[in-house]
Amino acid sequence: MERYFVYVVTFLLILHLVQAQNQTGFISVDCGLSPLASPYNAPETGLTYTSDADLVNSGKTGRVAKEFEPLYDRPTLIMRYFPEGVRNCYNLNVTRDTNYLIKATFVYGNYDGLNVVPNFDLYLGPNLWSTVSSNDTIEEIIHVTNSNSLQVCLVNTGISIPFINMLELRPLKKNMYVTQSGSLKYLFRGYISNSSTRIRFPEDVYDRKWYPLFDNSWTQLTTTLNVNTGITYELPQGVMAKAATPLEANETLNITWTIEPPTQYYSYVHFAELQNLRANDTREFNVTQNGIYTFGPFSPLPLKTASIVNSIPQQCDGGACILQLVKTLKSTLPPILNAIEAFSVIDLPQMEMTLLVLRMFKILTD
Ligand SMILES: *[C@@H]1O[C@H](CO)[C@@H](O)[C@H](O)[C@H]1NC(C)=O
Ligand SMILES: *[C@@H]1O[C@H](CO)[C@@H](O)[C@H](O)[C@H]1NC(C)=O
Ligand SMILES: *[C@@H]1O[C@H](CO)[C@@H](O)[C@H](O)[C@H]1NC(C)=O
Ligand SMILES: *[C@@H]1O[C@H](CO)[C@@H](O)[C@H](O)[C@H]1NC(C)=O
Ligand SMILES: *[C@@H]1O[C@H](CO)[C@@H](O)[C@H](O)[C@H]1NC(C)=O
Ligand SMILES: *[C@@H]1O[C@H](CO)[C@@H](O)[C@H](O)[C@H]1NC(C)=O
Ligand SMILES: *[C@@H]1O[C@H](CO)[C@@H](O)[C@H](O)[C@H]1NC(C)=O
Ligand SMILES: *[C@@H]1O[C@H](CO)[C@@H](O)[C@H](O)[C@H]1NC(C)=O
Repeated sequence: MERYFVYVVTFLLILHLVQAQNQTGFISVDCGLSPLASPYNAPETGLTYTSDADLVNSGKTGRVAKEFEPLYDRPTLIMRYFPEGVRNCYNLNVTRDTNYLIKATFVYGNYDGLNVVPNFDLYLGPNLWSTVSSNDTIEEIIHVTNSNSLQVCLVNTGISIPFINMLELRPLKKNMYVTQSGSLKYLFRGYISNSSTRIRFPEDVYDRKWYPLFDNSWTQLTTTLNVNTGITYELPQGVMAKAATPLEANETLNITWTIEPPTQYYSYVHFAELQNLRANDTREFNVTQNGIYTFGPFSPLPLKTASIVNSIPQQCDGGACILQLVKTLKSTLPPILNAIEAFSVIDLPQMEMTLLVLRMFKILTD
């Protein structure tokens, strides 16, 4: 009995240590938070948020209107807004030459009682990052710093007063999300699930947010076994333990998206075989992007993550993009997909024609 008890305690302790993920290098700013209330731990993620008082020397504190309060929690409930000046900047101390995932969250929530859709510009240093034009949005960019400070600026373009609820920086490894040049502006990040569950920190050690992605022409596969989730991209177990295949054995698995305005993009597609294949079964497919052969024939290994990433940026016709997994003739099973991310390129790289003959793709199995 005593032995049993000791085991249970040890198990809980290990579970606790696993859950208390490492936030080293994370910068988590709850914009508008009073320094008196700083820092605090967000209940949902365990992330430690701090006030923005030391990072910006202008602006006022706002709060979403009463009717929106039930929809939001700290740290999105309050914001800093900038009624004065055209350009207001946050000055962040960062580590030079580091690959950061940077997220800025904007939840309007009728904080000013004017009930207008926001519209203002977001800059990363001197460069336009995005135009905020929705009442509830997260802007994300993956960017390599070139100094120990980084400015995130909100610019009033004469339409509405800029505000910001949250600013989050997560250092990534240098070998993740590598581009030829330029930074990566988030388009989408999905894992295959017919649920409505989002996955982020602490399941994702880099605090990437994974949204469920599903289509009625697919069937959901899921495993309770442990999937080796990769040394480079360190995907969450909950992301790689789910996948889809087309319902029809011969059907192509299609992922479509649009880029407005049309710019170049990078995709990161993550695969692991989740089914226990019989000796006479083969799953083999080719990957094409915008109708062009990218990689294959490819057979994901059982419970082992492989990430297929673009090593040069891709272009889609008129901004309408399609990634397809096409079953080969030899295959007895339809293609499989576990997760996919796509980003557009900011700061268009100076493409030279000779680059086109370089390898068009790269595969990472680790
Ligand atoms: C946390 O992560 C950092 C960087 O990845 C590492 O240097 C440090 O040793 C880790 N700390 C713990 C307690 O795991
Ligand atoms: C950022 O770094 C500068 C120079 O090292 C320092 O003076 C300042 O207090 C730091 N700011 C914050 C918010 O840590
Ligand atoms: C955003 O706008 C939509 C449509 O006008 C509205 O239904 C929604 O309540 C608004 N949400 C917030 C947070 O302002
Ligand atoms: C999701 O897929 C699983 C496996 O096919 C199925 O059992 C479950 O009912 C589905 N859930 C929903 C909400 O469709
Ligand atoms: C799939 O394609 C093969 C080869 O083209 C064909 O023999 C088979 O009947 C097809 N199966 C289905 C279910 O359409
Ligand atoms: C996928 O795309 C191909 C070619 O565009 C099309 O023929 C096929 O019907 C699509 N599959 C699904 C499931 O939509
Ligand atoms: C594969 O083997 C299983 C038994 O292990 C059998 O039931 C099935 O019909 C075989 N399929 C094919 C395509 O030969
Ligand atoms: C898959 O790619 C290989 C190698 O390029 C090619 O020979 C084969 O025809 C392709 N199969 C399909 C179904 O596209």
